[in-house]
Amino acid sequence: MVIVRNIKKAYGSGTGTVHALKGVSCEIQSGEKCAIIGASGSGKSTLLNSIGGLEKVDEGEIIIDETNINSLNKEELRRFRRDKLGFVFQFYNLLPNLCVRDNIKVGEKLSKSPMNYEGLLSTLGLKQFENMYPPELSGGQQQRVSIARALIKNSPILLCDEPTGALDSTTSKEILKLLEEINRKYGTTIIFVTHNNAITQMMDTTIIMKDGMIIDVIKNPNPVSAEELDNL
Ligand SMILES: Nc1ncnc2c1ncn2[C@@H]1O[C@H](COP(=O)(O)OP(=O)(O)OP(=O)(O)O)[C@@H](O)[C@H]1O
Ligand SMILES: [Mg+2]
Repeated sequence: MVIVRNIKKAYGSGTGTVHALKGVSCEIQSGEKCAIIGASGSGKSTLLNSIGGLEKVDEGEIIIDETNINSLNKEELRRFRRDKLGFVFQFYNLLPNLCVRDNIKVGEKLSKSPMNYEGLLSTLGLKQFENMYPPELSGGQQQRVSIARALIKNSPILLCDEPTGALDSTTSKEILKLLEEINRKYGTTIIFVTHNNAITQMMDTTIIMKDGMIIDVIKNPNPVSAEELDNL
């Protein structure tokens, strides 16, 4: 479970200060699919990166599976991230000079109990690309590799920042179906930042942000399957 309590985060100083998070609180249950939506600049990435320990908050608490991540030192936080969290970004962040296999193995080496590489490769439909390099792949294929790299760590929480933002609707749906399957198969908690309101239909919870605050949390008792999503 992820508990966020009254976190505040500002960038810059003096008259140039940007208050990216102005006192944000929320709870995300284990195994949930949760969307974070809101206009550009509303603080979605700052919230996600704070939960992921990539940003240090100025005030408030983030508790993940009973660990207060603000109380960890640098080494403890590194280990916590390695064991608990996987990250998927909009622009994949793959290493261009490593082949698909070696990109995924980067994630595998980080984990004490990695998922089975071959099994994951087949779930993600990546077997035929194993020896290729990221620049030789389409956007959707690269995103699948980046999801594999995050998943192989076998981490219980997957943090996704607009993972379909750079993809066409057909490829987006393919990625969403994959995340849905991962959530169902492994019980992975998925926290998913998006601009795309249609995606919220498949989520259990949607957090709506505006100007550094959460203005609404919508629970969806009957999420539709990714297959059924329209107007992506
Ligand atoms: N490293 C930074 N330095 C200074 N200001 C920043 C930094 N990161 C974010 N901000 C500012 O904080 C605010 C929130 O940014 P954030 O990236 O969290 O928004 P977002 O909702 O993810 O937007 P988008 O949908 O465009 O990705 C914005 O005003 C942004 O300009
Ligand atoms: Mg963002």
